[in-house]
Amino acid sequence: MKKKWLTCLFTYSVLVSGVSHAEQKKTVAPTLNGIEFPAGYKQWQTIGISHRTDNNSLRTILGNDTAVKAARAGKIKPWPEGSILAKVVWKQRTDENWPAAIVPGEFLQAEFMIKDSKKYETTHGWGFARWKGKDLKPWGESANFAQQCAACHTPVADKDYVFTSPAVFIDNKK
Ligand code: HEC
Repeated sequence: MKKKWLTCLFTYSVLVSGVSHAEQKKTVAPTLNGIEFPAGYKQWQTIGISHRTDNNSLRTILGNDTAVKAARAGKIKPWPEGSILAKVVWKQRTDENWPAAIVPGEFLQAEFMIKDSKKYETTHGWGFARWKGKDLKPWGESANFAQQCAACHTPVADKDYVFTSPAVFIDNKK
């Protein structure tokens, strides 16, 4: 009986340490302005896409539930509190089976805008954060980096500082 119990304890501790090890490996450092990497963004839905011809990259603009609901309803002036927009960027490459098609290649970066008018008052009500490369290295040399993001988004102040106009999805229902 005692032996069985010990085996049990051993299996349990292996499982527990295995899990915590996996969690440690997943940890990504927050940006210097204190934003944690938004969990689960891979499950978010598409708001738009873009192709930059100046640096040959493809992007998808995704939103969390709050942002996607607002985008589909056209209620984005302003975007509701709690909206998170993600821009995921890949190097472009041609499809190996269809050279006329440009498709995503190497993952380059993921960046986010988090709407919280009070918390991020000094950057137009959006928390800006960017992680680069496959190891998701937080971008920015000081906590002030977000001022650069905010400054470049200023030309679209009348669109609540968001460049992307949501793509139109036609459905069988109005
Ligand atoms: C030099 C100008 C410039 C800077 C600096 C800049 N952005 Fe943008 N950003 C853009 C443009 C232009 C778009 C839309 C075109 C595209 O998809 O790339 C955009 C789009 C975005 C989007 C998708 C939502 C939207 O506005 O369309 C996010 C999220 C974003 N940027 C985050 C950031 C973050 C975070 C930083 C700073 C770390 C940053 N941006 C810095 C120009 C800039």
